[in-house]
Amino acid sequence: MSLPKDNKDSIPEPTKGLEGIVAADTNLSSVNGEKGILRYCGFNIDDLALDTTFEETICILYDYELPTEDRLSEMTKNIGEARVLPDEVVEVITKLVGKTSPMSTLRTVVSALGHYEKNVPLSELAPKALRLVGQIATAVAMIHRLREGLPIIKADPERGHAEDFLRMLHGDEPSKIQINALNLYLILLADHGFNASTFSARVTAGTLANLHSAITSAVGTLSGPLHGGANEKAMDMILEVGKPENASEYIENAFNNKQKIMGFGHRVYKVDDARRIHLKNMTELVCKENGNMEIYRTAEEIERQVRKRKSIITNVDFYSAPLLYELGIPTDLFTPLFAMSRVAGWTAHVLEQYKNNRLIRPRARYVGQIDRTFTPLQHRSEKRF
Ligand SMILES: CC(C)(COP(=O)(O)OP(=O)(O)OC[C@H]1O[C@@H](n2cnc3c(N)ncnc32)[C@H](O)[C@@H]1OP(=O)(O)O)[C@@H](O)C(=O)NCCC(=O)NCCS
Repeated sequence: MSLPKDNKDSIPEPTKGLEGIVAADTNLSSVNGEKGILRYCGFNIDDLALDTTFEETICILYDYELPTEDRLSEMTKNIGEARVLPDEVVEVITKLVGKTSPMSTLRTVVSALGHYEKNVPLSELAPKALRLVGQIATAVAMIHRLREGLPIIKADPERGHAEDFLRMLHGDEPSKIQINALNLYLILLADHGFNASTFSARVTAGTLANLHSAITSAVGTLSGPLHGGANEKAMDMILEVGKPENASEYIENAFNNKQKIMGFGHRVYKVDDARRIHLKNMTELVCKENGNMEIYRTAEEIERQVRKRKSIITNVDFYSAPLLYELGIPTDLFTPLFAMSRVAGWTAHVLEQYKNNRLIRPRARYVGQIDRTFTPLQHRSEKRF
């Protein structure tokens, strides 16, 4: 593209999509895309996936340390007590459900929740952030119950976050495997470097806007199909394919039509997504418990067919989809579930941004015309358009 002379000399070539650009330091998560390793505060996700809870992951992200038993019980108690929404926010949900998507409702809920919080100094911001982590889970369950015309189920602060969410959503007691599966999902998706939604939260926090403004930005950013929305589309595909025998033809057609296959490809991971194997194994377990191995086998065959044709990795969204589906989560709640996990990382990043803030303000290269002649309205020709 030929550029205006003065700009061409002074502004460097932009990096499309900011690919490979390092925008800040963080102590939260590190993603090694070349080796397929994800760590939270130095702890490998492979270890955390084995035997921890979402609450323990939040402790790590908020404290940069493994919790003691006391700290973990305190966190579990605090997040349990946080799973309550102000009555006015319940009214907002009641008015919106059925009229807009669950993600749009959730974005409005996060924004509305900000009105019921006091301004507090930075040193007291963590409890406020944690409240939001608890409230988002309740809001997601409530969005579902209200739109289905079902009675709202109150939170039970004595239960773990994953267990209580499933109970508030479905109205019955989840199985041990279901609780473990949701815990695993919440742990694995809690943070992931400067992904688009986390970056948008940090950009907003960088202006010293408040916590709820930053998380509202993040929820909006997550809703796009190239980010959080990919898991819904991945499930639509798995259901459309229906059985393993149909996968080859479906994927062949998708590639021939130059379609992006949801749940595949990643900007950072080059060999494997660190979270894939854990989600895949857990999906198999849950499908077995439900006696529905067809879904698992179909997903596995889609993966095989994609990778046979192109060397793109299977990303976190692909196996998240059948996992959530088998937990009885409707597909349009998949992205809200993603938000319910990622809010742990978003809030931790916002706290980190405030602690060492600098306004995030990149530049754009102007590629339009310059030195154009201004003509007053009354002298402009009708023919211009
Ligand atoms: C995530 C994503 C946006 C990354 O995009 P990116 O870093 O810009 O990757 P690129 O578009 O440069 O991909 C490189 C090549 O792989 C192809 N590719 C990438 N993802 C693909 C997909 N999901 N299906 C088919 N082809 C894909 C691209 O078309 C490109 O092919 P080319 O070299 O022949 O032109 C992209 O992979 C995508 O749209 N995936 C589907 C959505 C998704 O699952 N998002 C969740 C991410 S966690």
